[in-house]
Amino acid sequence: MTRKIGIIGMGNVGAACAHYIVAGGFVDDLVLIDQNEKKVKADALDFEDAMANLPYHTNIFVNDYSQLDDADIIISAVGHIKLIGGDHPNRFGELKPTGDSVTDVAGKIKQTKFNGIMVVISNPNDVMTSMYQQILGFPKERVIGTGTLLDSARMKRAVGKAFSVDPRSVSGYNLGEHGNSQFTAWSTVKVMDQPIEKLAKDSGLDLEQINEDVRMGGFTVFDGKGYTNYGVSTAAVRLSLAILNDAHIELPVSNFREEYGVYLSYPAIVGRNGILKQLQLDLPQSELDKLQASADYIKKNLK
Ligand code: LAC
Repeated sequence: MTRKIGIIGMGNVGAACAHYIVAGGFVDDLVLIDQNEKKVKADALDFEDAMANLPYHTNIFVNDYSQLDDADIIISAVGHIKLIGGDHPNRFGELKPTGDSVTDVAGKIKQTKFNGIMVVISNPNDVMTSMYQQILGFPKERVIGTGTLLDSARMKRAVGKAFSVDPRSVSGYNLGEHGNSQFTAWSTVKVMDQPIEKLAKDSGLDLEQINEDVRMGGFTVFDGKGYTNYGVSTAAVRLSLAILNDAHIELPVSNFREEYGVYLSYPAIVGRNGILKQLQLDLPQSELDKLQASADYIKKNLK
């Protein structure tokens, strides 16, 4: 069976997703779509120049929505990140321009026979994911945002560094909005299988400072290079591979939670058909209150 992914929006993020996918040989067919025809054609030629030096071959298609008819996954990487900076950085700064782009793109996807899974990177992520679901009319489990899969990776990077262990030796989640109202659910975080709240007390680690550094981590990268792309594209491709390979793996991605009435990041089991099962964490009231506040913030700002 031919494995096929479409990437819509070939800016810094979409291009990083495409490079990871081509270099990894994860698909047979890759569809690249961008409103800048000259640029996306050059991207395709650039990737074809890589093929002779790769152990895998990927067929590249450019700016052809009909090629999405039989795609397994479409990754939405459209966005206007220049708008999130400034004195009060907030991903909702791009709500209007990216919302307009998503409306246009989702409308074009709706004209195709695409019947796979939407993986949404576009920001503000939870709202853009919700918009795709509403415009496409897909079941909610088949439209997923990268959400705090990226922020949880940032938390693991920070905690791992504090304890001199690889981030993969840290478990736990950032929950809620992929944005300013997110938080690290410390009750879920373990390092070397030890609850972090006990370790932090013994070592004097300031969890509140880590929470803040992680919450603002995207803006730290943005301040240095004017965008972010490697962390989020790796999260998006990991999510896509979990779908493509029917991994049945637990990931903190943006999915629709009935009890909050919005898309927000909460762990779920991901596989071929998208969100297979939603988890129920045993969170303390303080973390439940933060999650409710995040859900309220997202709901207040739905387009
Ligand atoms: C970030 C962008 C993808 O957090 O929102 O890097």
